[in-house]
Amino acid sequence: MSTLWHGRFERGPAEELLAYTVSLPYDQRLFPDDIDGSRAHVRGLGRVGLLEDAEVQEILAALDRVDAELTDGTFEFLPSDEDIHTAVERRVTEIAGPVGGKLHTGRSRNDQVATDLRLFTKRHVALVAHRLVEVQQVLLTRAEEAGDAYLPGYTHLQRAQPVLLAHHLLAHGWALSRDLDRLLDARRRLDVSPLGAGALAGSSLPLDPESVADDLGFAGVFDNSLDAVSDRDFVAEVLFDLTLVGVHLSRIGEEIVLWASEEFGFCRLDDAYSTGSSMLPQKKNPDIAELTRGKSGRLIGNLTGLLATLKGLPLAYNRDLQEDKEPLFDALDQITLGLSAVEGLLATTRFDHTAMAAAADAPTSSATDLAEHLVAGGTPFREAHAIVGALVRQHLDEGADLAALVAEHPDLGPSAAELLGPGVAARRRTTRGGGGPGPVADQVERFRARLAAD
Ligand code: ARG
Repeated sequence: MSTLWHGRFERGPAEELLAYTVSLPYDQRLFPDDIDGSRAHVRGLGRVGLLEDAEVQEILAALDRVDAELTDGTFEFLPSDEDIHTAVERRVTEIAGPVGGKLHTGRSRNDQVATDLRLFTKRHVALVAHRLVEVQQVLLTRAEEAGDAYLPGYTHLQRAQPVLLAHHLLAHGWALSRDLDRLLDARRRLDVSPLGAGALAGSSLPLDPESVADDLGFAGVFDNSLDAVSDRDFVAEVLFDLTLVGVHLSRIGEEIVLWASEEFGFCRLDDAYSTGSSMLPQKKNPDIAELTRGKSGRLIGNLTGLLATLKGLPLAYNRDLQEDKEPLFDALDQITLGLSAVEGLLATTRFDHTAMAAAADAPTSSATDLAEHLVAGGTPFREAHAIVGALVRQHLDEGADLAALVAEHPDLGPSAAELLGPGVAARRRTTRGGGGPGPVADQVERFRARLAAD
């Protein structure tokens, strides 16, 4: 078998090792970026006089053909194609003849693969960003539709204070808008071309990395060739950002699982976004929400796996770096799918406003409002807390009606008892960013404006 490095070797690689070393099965998907990188490299070689114009044209024509073959699936891979870079170069040489041997002038697979992966990541981050905006859009639409519907807000999964459903939905929306910020920020940082770094040290040939970076649409060019070929910060960073998206989707998934349970009964899942049981005829299971929760574990694994791969590496390129691709590809694939699954789930779920209100209207939900009512009349908060706490205890221990206890209490009275009426507590949060109708209306406006700007 003929390899790119056969000159120095008496024998080819052991056949049985190929399955261990090849990356072609997964790095094939880098081909559009590999071809673009090669086109820019060849044009760069032409500009500095290392290739004649005619040679540039011949290699570019061969690259076009390889591109077409890879796109329409007629490209035939050979067992000697270790990775996509090897395969493309081999085929260019078959098509263009000896001039194909000039394609790799001044280039190493080390700067080539780093370039390809940055181009690939830039493209895919843009796709994920687009999907993130779509999920935020659905959250906004559902928040607008929710109007003044309210539900219990929880801490420790114990009912705390009622909030509008819109407020709850947008809480997830803001988390996703931070995710979007982070991804776009990582994209800005990774927008640097490593091409021209060579294997590790640059070149004795008169390459012009800056013009090649420009040609490829990179915003900048490397400053240190050792760093350029060994830096995978951008993979780690994007993986973290994607993992956090996964964690946020998982939290949405967990709430849907809870809300869809008979115990909560806050929502009903659409048939298209739930599954049945092979044995239990009555079941409607929230599998999509559960998978969203489950897949976040896998994303965390991808991130920690990559960090472990990077931690002991000396400069510059080491073959360990080949292990950067699968975790990144998997995370991008899972998040892309996960975002559309959650978008559909949120768009189709029917929220049961009546069940939510019934849970939120439990008299104890207004306990804080009672304490604040006392504070407004001059009682120190600690004292107010103790007064209301004692009434709640009496209500729970003796089964006494809380509204009656409040109405009869000398410091509270009938007007305070009105705070226990249906929906009253949900309307009482009026401060900026709070869960009542006034601040939520402002928040919806800010969220809409933010989304329009993204
Ligand atoms: N397939 C390799 C990778 O993904 C390409 C670079 C190989 N370079 C080398 N010197 N062996 O990292």
